[in-house]
Amino acid sequence: MISTLLSRPGGPDDDRTPRLLFGADYNPEQWPREVWEEDVRLMREAGVNVVSVAIFSWARLQPGPDQWDFGWLDEVMDLLHANGVGVDLATATASPPPWLTTAHPEILPVTDRGETVWPGARQHWRPTSPVFREHALRLVRAMAERYAAHPALVAWHVSNELGCHNVYDYSDDAARAFRQWLRARYTTLDALNHAWGTAFWSQRYTDWEQILPPRLAGSHPNPTQQLDFKRFSSDALKDHLRAEREILREITPDVPVTTNFMVMGGTKGMDYADWAPEIDFVSNDHYVHPGPQDRDELSFSANLTSGIAGGRPWFLMEHSTSAVNWQPVNLAKRPGELARDALLHVAHGADAVCYFQWRQSAAGAEKYHSAMVPHAGADSDLFRSVAALGRTLESLAPVAGSEREAAEVGILFDWASWWASEQDSHPTSLLDYRQEALDWYSALLALGVRADVVTTRADLSRHKVLIAPVLHLVPAELAKDLTRFAERGGHLVTTYFSGIVDENDHVWLGGYPGALRDVLGIRVEEFGPLLDGDSVELDDGTAGGLWTDRITVTAEDTEVLARYRTGDHAGRPAVTRRPVAEGSAAYVSTRLGVTGLTALLPRLLSPAGVGSELPAALRGRVEVTVRSAPGARFLFLVNRTDDTVPVTGLSGELLTGTAGDDGHPVLGPREVAVLRQSV
Ligand code: GLA
Ligand code: GLA
Repeated sequence: MISTLLSRPGGPDDDRTPRLLFGADYNPEQWPREVWEEDVRLMREAGVNVVSVAIFSWARLQPGPDQWDFGWLDEVMDLLHANGVGVDLATATASPPPWLTTAHPEILPVTDRGETVWPGARQHWRPTSPVFREHALRLVRAMAERYAAHPALVAWHVSNELGCHNVYDYSDDAARAFRQWLRARYTTLDALNHAWGTAFWSQRYTDWEQILPPRLAGSHPNPTQQLDFKRFSSDALKDHLRAEREILREITPDVPVTTNFMVMGGTKGMDYADWAPEIDFVSNDHYVHPGPQDRDELSFSANLTSGIAGGRPWFLMEHSTSAVNWQPVNLAKRPGELARDALLHVAHGADAVCYFQWRQSAAGAEKYHSAMVPHAGADSDLFRSVAALGRTLESLAPVAGSEREAAEVGILFDWASWWASEQDSHPTSLLDYRQEALDWYSALLALGVRADVVTTRADLSRHKVLIAPVLHLVPAELAKDLTRFAERGGHLVTTYFSGIVDENDHVWLGGYPGALRDVLGIRVEEFGPLLDGDSVELDDGTAGGLWTDRITVTAEDTEVLARYRTGDHAGRPAVTRRPVAEGSAAYVSTRLGVTGLTALLPRLLSPAGVGSELPAALRGRVEVTVRSAPGARFLFLVNRTDDTVPVTGLSGELLTGTAGDDGHPVLGPREVAVLRQSV
């Protein structure tokens, strides 16, 4: 789908050979007309074949309620088309213009403290505002009607990063919509009162109108109200996405619709697993947050995006060629990182590699954010690296359209557990759901073991080992699925603070972890969180932080894989595993971190017969992913180190990368090689 976007009937190009797309957000309205000519010339030089246009153009396209100015965009679309560049056209609704917020300040979001979020930046709109919706949909209709038949149009880009700045709005519009959402979820007030546990602190509701979003309160707001508000807020944005999509489908039924997700560190509010079925292909934006696990995090996010896309190719809508502008210190990328980061996304199923943005802005809040054409111009190392990447992507055309080959290990990632596990008033406020999942992922990378990050909507039976870190919220149905997974020969691994509450955030009683107690063959009566910086030793030589549990083994066949050597639970089990029919269920009661998990994992994987597919010399130094298509497997080998790594013991035709004297690939620092194997 993505790899053939350019050859849609009547589209930019007759060549139907699948290829990888390459491009950026293109914001020509920031530049005089002469620059546009240079833009398209340089796009051709760099191999750019797709751009996203008009993302923040509302004020320019509609200067007043009944004034429209499409002329400049017509010209841009024509120019791009004449130069063989397809357009992922934005609906342009991301940032409302000043005339609209002046006439209708009631579309502005409100914080939990009742403060107005004023215009001045972007995305200052309430997802539930009927007034905003009406104006936005009018623009969507105008855009769709204007460009329906334009040959440059290859896809629709709804809004931009929905929820980036406005996911939580506590306005009166939000209150009204929240009540409607709650009525649909619970039908009766009795059901809501039960779910929210309103017997506590005198919160019983006797009328729907009494219910509010969790606005600033004197103490901890009701936890189920908070959790439902998170669900509702994700749904409210999804509803906006659907509303725009309906108009696009009505007017251009043959043009695929997407919107750019933000599967990356720091973004938590949108349940993308739930959103994915609403669009024709999944798109993602990703930015690196520098730190010890930064590229593991990139890989994790790309992998999860693939999981959200059901293993099908997805569209990398934005990442950066070098520095961003929104971190405390914005590091430039080192040599090789531009290509390595891009190809790591392709390794995990991206069929399009795009950047924010094409030409670095001279003005505005993002003027120090890198782009494909930097302030220095095309005579720059950066632009030469961009053009080199364009050539690499051309050589990878055979990969286009291939899907992710399932790995034997799955890591389960679930928004409800993420939201619920990190709420306030818990045994510790230091728990970081995504970090725990990332640590398991990093440990698997260190061992050279391939893993898929999957969501609770995926077919879990595809994996031999399923790791469910901090799977805190487990409805009865999921508990059954996980138990069945083990009974049918799967090896389930879970951790501290998993299986604790149901979908209403009510504790499963009788001893922790209530939902998984039986399958795990353990029981915990009291949690043992640790103070920041404290740790306990285990008798296998590892050390744990954050959390401990006082575990009692309840099934005869539960094995103890490691015990606490120090701390309040010294001598008691820390890691357990219980054989379950053909499979097993293991429990890790403390936060072992990457080093500890790397030491422990071989003992958890070996009963499943799972290990590294890489030759021993490459494990930990090289990340391997596999994409497959009929007749071919594509092995992506990503050098995780700053050293040169010769690749031996793997065969195939080298599609990209450096060949050594013996014909085998030699990975330079941070380099990527792709081998095609016939099957
Ligand atoms: C106070 C309140 C109680 C309870 C405890 C919890 O003492 O009076 O209702 O909230 O704090 O520590
Ligand atoms: C987001 C936005 C872009 C741009 C980049 C900068 O991803 O979608 O418009 O602001 O961040 O990193």
